[in-house]
Amino acid sequence: MQNLFPTTMGPQLEQVLTALALWCLVISTRQTPTSACIAAERDALAAFNSSITDPHGRLSSWQGENCCDWSGVTCHKKTGHVIQLDFAEYALQGEINPSLAGLTKLIYLNLSQNDFGGASIPEFIGSFKVLRYLDLSSASFGGPVPPQLGNLTRLQYLNLSDSYLATIHNFRWVSKLTSLRYLDLSWLYLAASVDWLQAVNMLPLLQVLRFNDASLHATDLNCLPRVNFTTLKHLGLKSNSNLNSYLPSWIWNLSSLSELDLSGCGLSGRIPYELGKLTSLKFLSLADNKLEGVVPRSVSSLCNSVHIDLSGNLLSGDITETAKSLLSCVKQLQILDLANNHLTGSLSGWLEQMTSLRVIDLSKNSLSGDIPANMGKLSNLTHLDISFNSFKGTISEIHFANLSRLYTLVLSSNTLKIEIGNSWVPPFQLRELGMHACLVGPQFPTWLQSQSRIEMIDLGSTGITGVLPGWIWNFSSSITSLNVSKNNITGTLPASLEHLTMLTTLNMRYNQLEGSIPDLPTSVQVLDLSYNYLSGSLPRSFGNNELYYLLLSNNYLSGVIPTELCNMVLMEAIDLSNNHLSGEVPNCWNKISNLYIIDFSNNNFWGEIPSTIGSLNSLITLHLGKNNFSGTLPTSLQSFNMLVFLDLGENNLSGNIPKWIGEGLRTLQFLRLRSNQFSGEIPQELSQLNVLQCLDLSDNKLSGPVPHFLENYAAMHMGNNQEWGTSTPFISFKVYGVGGAYFSVYNDALQMTYKGRTLTFTKPEYVMSIDLSANQFTGEIPSGLGFLTGLRSFNLSRNHIGGSIPDELGRMAYLESLDLSWNDLSGTIPQSLVSLEYLSYLSLAGKIPMRGQFLTFDEEVYLGNVNLCGYPLETICLLDSDKHRHHKLHQHFDTITYLCMLLGFASGFSIVSVILISSAAARKTYFQFTDVILDKLCAAVWLKLHINWMSAGRDLSTRTEIQNSITCYHFEEPSTAI
Ligand SMILES: *[C@@H]1O[C@H](CO)[C@@H](O)[C@H](O)[C@H]1NC(C)=O
Ligand SMILES: *[C@@H]1O[C@H](CO)[C@@H](O)[C@H](O)[C@H]1NC(C)=O
Ligand SMILES: *[C@@H]1O[C@H](CO)[C@@H](O)[C@H](O)[C@H]1NC(C)=O
Repeated sequence: MQNLFPTTMGPQLEQVLTALALWCLVISTRQTPTSACIAAERDALAAFNSSITDPHGRLSSWQGENCCDWSGVTCHKKTGHVIQLDFAEYALQGEINPSLAGLTKLIYLNLSQNDFGGASIPEFIGSFKVLRYLDLSSASFGGPVPPQLGNLTRLQYLNLSDSYLATIHNFRWVSKLTSLRYLDLSWLYLAASVDWLQAVNMLPLLQVLRFNDASLHATDLNCLPRVNFTTLKHLGLKSNSNLNSYLPSWIWNLSSLSELDLSGCGLSGRIPYELGKLTSLKFLSLADNKLEGVVPRSVSSLCNSVHIDLSGNLLSGDITETAKSLLSCVKQLQILDLANNHLTGSLSGWLEQMTSLRVIDLSKNSLSGDIPANMGKLSNLTHLDISFNSFKGTISEIHFANLSRLYTLVLSSNTLKIEIGNSWVPPFQLRELGMHACLVGPQFPTWLQSQSRIEMIDLGSTGITGVLPGWIWNFSSSITSLNVSKNNITGTLPASLEHLTMLTTLNMRYNQLEGSIPDLPTSVQVLDLSYNYLSGSLPRSFGNNELYYLLLSNNYLSGVIPTELCNMVLMEAIDLSNNHLSGEVPNCWNKISNLYIIDFSNNNFWGEIPSTIGSLNSLITLHLGKNNFSGTLPTSLQSFNMLVFLDLGENNLSGNIPKWIGEGLRTLQFLRLRSNQFSGEIPQELSQLNVLQCLDLSDNKLSGPVPHFLENYAAMHMGNNQEWGTSTPFISFKVYGVGGAYFSVYNDALQMTYKGRTLTFTKPEYVMSIDLSANQFTGEIPSGLGFLTGLRSFNLSRNHIGGSIPDELGRMAYLESLDLSWNDLSGTIPQSLVSLEYLSYLSLAGKIPMRGQFLTFDEEVYLGNVNLCGYPLETICLLDSDKHRHHKLHQHFDTITYLCMLLGFASGFSIVSVILISSAAARKTYFQFTDVILDKLCAAVWLKLHINWMSAGRDLSTRTEIQNSITCYHFEEPSTAI
């Protein structure tokens, strides 16, 4: 080492000396033209540096005397004053030192994309008298913007955008910035500013005005008498959904306007003809408003337009008119988005002429006709979406002849037949393909094999039959989403899909797949294989903890739930219902934080309900019904504070109904504990379930009186559930797919005894019910239950309830099903029940009123209470004043009963399969059966009944009445995808 030292010293020293010389040269050449930095300003900058943190070392050059050399700092060449500070994207943090106010000659200040942690914009910025450019965007400033900025009378550019913590209450200071050409206040919180438009109108030189997504409150944009900023080029007010105005007339005077974005502003009214005055317009978006009427023909004057977006409005009229107007002048149109309107007409005669188009979205309109074959000429087209219309006809190879740049193709939900030969090689490489509900099958499209970059495929409901070709599982490593649900796909899945490393969504719901569930790729997030014939056990591994939705219901899966399932900590929904799974449910649920749905119903699980399920406090619906769970309910379940659905019915659970159900589960709407071994009285605490609308405790060992507090269930009072529309499902989770299509991953349903049968309801509005049947309740029917005026079904049958039927039950105006049979009731049936217009199922005792729909109930309905009397029973009530009418009515009734019985026996079903209901109820009844066969059966019964009546030669009026009174239940698939 020692003797090496002198030899190595030489070259090292040489290097250092050359570097030094070079450095001196650099310094001297730089210094010559630039003036030295002014000491006071250097001190101000140094102070600024000392109070700021600089995690990325962007200010590391801030050393030495000459601050004009520091990064981000520019000085005036002659005077040496700092005139520009540009710290854009420096990621600085901390406080801005007020010493910066010393830079009095500052012309340009850019602090955008830093993080000042919600601090206020410093007031001293208002003292930079000669400032012309001020950009404080995306810098996490908050609080009120200081009115001192109004002193910057020379300011031409002001950008405070993306400061969502900042507000402006009063715009008076803005109106003083009369030199402004550019003003961007997008993404501030401006809800309190009432004078923004008047203030902005004081800025006559304005060219760019952007107040996008700034929470502007309702403003009448028409309030300006005369517009001052006539040279405006860009106007952006998008996503101020509360504006709620008409399109203001002053806009049409802005003849220099090239960019107009008023999307999502709550605008209503029509698009006026004056739109055509904006001849400089290149970009026009009026999307997502409430605009109605036709698109004015004056669009023919928008000769320079490149991008037109009128999607998401209520526009009507023939698209051909609009298109032809556009074609008369527009030559550069690249993007045309008219999706989500009420447009009619076809694509013929115009589409092929829009050769400059890159993107066209006409989805969700009422367009019809064939798809013109010369569409294939649009060689620049990259995105084509015509889904959700009424197009028909056939699509073949010619339609795509020159579409070599196409990467999104969405034809879903049209009556289109896709006829493409097996040997076709498409000119394009798609990323997204949507053909949902088009006729593609029976064969899986072979041309897809060439699409090596495809990411999303939706071929749900496309008539694909048979075994899928093996190449599907290998052809594209880029695939993220595959939906082939609702086809007739048979065969098995490959043993492993682990090689599809981008796959996030696999939906093969409603097919006929057999075999077992494959090993999944680590990327999978949504797996829906429900409604198939899959068997075997659940996989041990469900990917890399990314899984959100695991939907395997209605298969033949067996074995236990592996504890590994609990490692899926992001899981939001698990549906394993209707399988043959068994064993104890593992007690490991405390790791998952956002689980909303658990459905394990109709399996063979046994043992106690695992206590850790109680730690899933985001749970909305819990179905453990139809299993063999036993023991008492774990008290941990009381911490569910979002639970709406609790179904533990048809198990072997025992003990008292816990008090904490009432104290803890305040959001509960549907409580089903039927067919268990629960005993004791109904606890008083259940009275706290304020939003409960279905209480099913039937078939337990409950005793004591029917509690009076039931009458306080507000949700069962008429008018308190108006928010349930006929189309509101209970709880439904959707996943969005290609284009605007989505598929339901879970639709909640409730099984209930209704009108004497077990029905599955998928919509909540009819589930307004109390079922306490088949217990050991005693006492009398509380008359206050008549206050439950919204109740549709009430069942107290098979108990030991005595006394008489309270008159007040006649107030339950919406009651359709009332069952009080097999009790110890006495007395007469209150005449008030006759006024129940919807009542179509009745089972009780006593004198039967001889009016309305009571005539249509058959004799069985009245069995079970000993002290009953009156028609149609043999026992005649004393003091019956209606006796003289009996003979005629009896005949009438017999015929119907006879027919029903005949049909019931003939079709091998019990008589219950025909229910006669009043016509009012028939109109209002939309519930669904569990069994698809019932649909067909009902149709058959209806037909037979009809024929029988015809041949029986009844008079026409009676026949019509009877036909009206038969309801045929409409079966919908439990999941209505799309
Ligand atoms: C700056 O503005 C504030 C408030 O608007 C005002 O009180 C102050 O006098 C102004 N300063 C100058 C130098 O104009
Ligand atoms: C137009 O701007 C000028 C100058 O800022 C102002 O004096 C005038 O009041 C404005 N006009 C309207 C109608 O606001
Ligand atoms: C298609 O796009 C190219 C640029 O990508 C453009 O040069 C050409 O003019 C376009 N074709 C038509 C017909 O507009």
